[in-house]
Amino acid sequence: MKNILLVIALAVLTCCGTAQDKKDNVANADSATAKEQEKTQNETTMKALVTYFSASGVTRNAAKQVADIIGADLFEITPEQLYTDADLDWRDKTSRSTIEMNDKTSRPALKDGGKVPNLAQYDVVYVGFPIWWYTAPTIINTFIEANDFTGKTIVPFATSGGSNIKKACEDLQTAYPNYKFGQGKLLNSIDKADIEAWAAVVK
Ligand SMILES: Cc1cc2nc3c(=O)[nH]c(=O)nc-3n(C[C@H](O)[C@H](O)[C@H](O)COP(=O)(O)O)c2cc1C
Repeated sequence: MKNILLVIALAVLTCCGTAQDKKDNVANADSATAKEQEKTQNETTMKALVTYFSASGVTRNAAKQVADIIGADLFEITPEQLYTDADLDWRDKTSRSTIEMNDKTSRPALKDGGKVPNLAQYDVVYVGFPIWWYTAPTIINTFIEANDFTGKTIVPFATSGGSNIKKACEDLQTAYPNYKFGQGKLLNSIDKADIEAWAAVVK
């Protein structure tokens, strides 16, 4: 009888132990699922927008590739009055671009005021432009001033005939000290892995 009771007691203990193990396993699985959900949520909430101004198409092409590679939305920064070839003649002291770039307070008007629709949904805003006279065209100032980038990261990128983006980034950071800027990038050539690595640093 004693032996029978002992066997029953052992069976109950073994059974309870197994149930506890199962509970632990379920708890661990729940916590892993919660972590996975949190990770997915972070990835989906860090939404990026690629904006660009392009006078002759080179930056537009770069912007489209960036948006495609990182899976971002695209927004064109469109001047109210498009730039003609004569406007872009940097050798002409009287051309529109020369006049604008000689006056750092110039703010060329943008179509529809340059406001990004639904800007609130984006955490990272890439801003692309051609380098003009070693820096960003003043129409980029119009764009930045037309929108509220508080709480977002602005990431400059540019195309050029050979100049780097350093001065453009410094000028923008100096002009807008209250905004957070990510690392700028010159995109005269596009490398997918390079773009992915750059975008990963911003997040
Ligand atoms: C007014 C003007 C000024 C420019 N200044 C520079 C410059 O300082 N350094 C440079 O490397 N390229 C300069 N460029 C060349 C452009 O940056 C380059 O062609 C750019 O890729 C054009 O981009 P987009 O086609 O998107 O307008 C200038 C072009 C223009 C029209």
